[in-house]
Amino acid sequence: MSLQIKPLGQQLGAQIVGADLTRPLDDGVFAQIRAAFNQYEVLCFRGQELSDEDQIRFSARFGQLRKLKLTNVLLDQKPEIFVVSNIKKEGQYIGSYDAGVFWHTDGAYLPNPHAISALRALKVPEVDGTVLGDTNFASTSAAYNALPEAMKKRIDNLQALQSIMHRLSKTLESGIKKDYTAAVKSDPEAIHPVVRIHPENGKKCLFVTEGYTAKILGLPDDESKDLIRELTAHCIKPEFTYRHHWQQHDLVMWDDCSTQHKATFDYPESAPRLMHRTTIMHSSAKE
Ligand code: SIN
Repeated sequence: MSLQIKPLGQQLGAQIVGADLTRPLDDGVFAQIRAAFNQYEVLCFRGQELSDEDQIRFSARFGQLRKLKLTNVLLDQKPEIFVVSNIKKEGQYIGSYDAGVFWHTDGAYLPNPHAISALRALKVPEVDGTVLGDTNFASTSAAYNALPEAMKKRIDNLQALQSIMHRLSKTLESGIKKDYTAAVKSDPEAIHPVVRIHPENGKKCLFVTEGYTAKILGLPDDESKDLIRELTAHCIKPEFTYRHHWQQHDLVMWDDCSTQHKATFDYPESAPRLMHRTTIMHSSAKE
């Protein structure tokens, strides 16, 4: 199998052409995909008509899958699959309907945040022939590298509180109703460095997001808020971002340490969007 790697964004994102993910990949091909993932941080595989089992098998090549505790958004019988969707069944959303409403990294508030997420498009929302519901990605490693030296020095040893309660209050402010009971009960918050060293490739990555970063420790509240605002605005500058325009049967995977992401909610409820996500843990992490 010969692969082609086509860069997508200025600093992150690449499309892998020539891989058939419905079949087990040999070690040589997988090593090329792994290396591309380290470099590009977001990979897109198009035209992959995968079953859930195919997605689980491919994802598991990257590490142990995380079994999430958010039972109301997991696929029945398959706790490895987190459902992202605006579809309702018997009056209830079948999955998480507001995932990605703010810039965030998945699982930031956990003691061991997720390593990788892989999202497969089963249904893309279409209005008058136009597909909506893009996902934006930002490279937190490119953003860190581009900071002035004085800012790097200022933040290199700082720590921040990453909190589901922060996300909850932002969600309520924006008028979305959401049941966070399970998340709040299990692991509501964790303290992490503002500059994370990627456990697998050693990249320095900014770990401050609109969605989850509640406070930078050791700073007065005003200063903490200003610094969070400054760093999050820096991360999502156009030169560090890539906007993914979905096609049905895309599988897009991203590095949850060296990127953050945000979904675009520009489609009506009458346009169904259905995505299945698998979540991979760092090799050093515990459940
Ligand atoms: C997510 O934030 O995990 C989902 C992103 C999306 O639905 O585009």
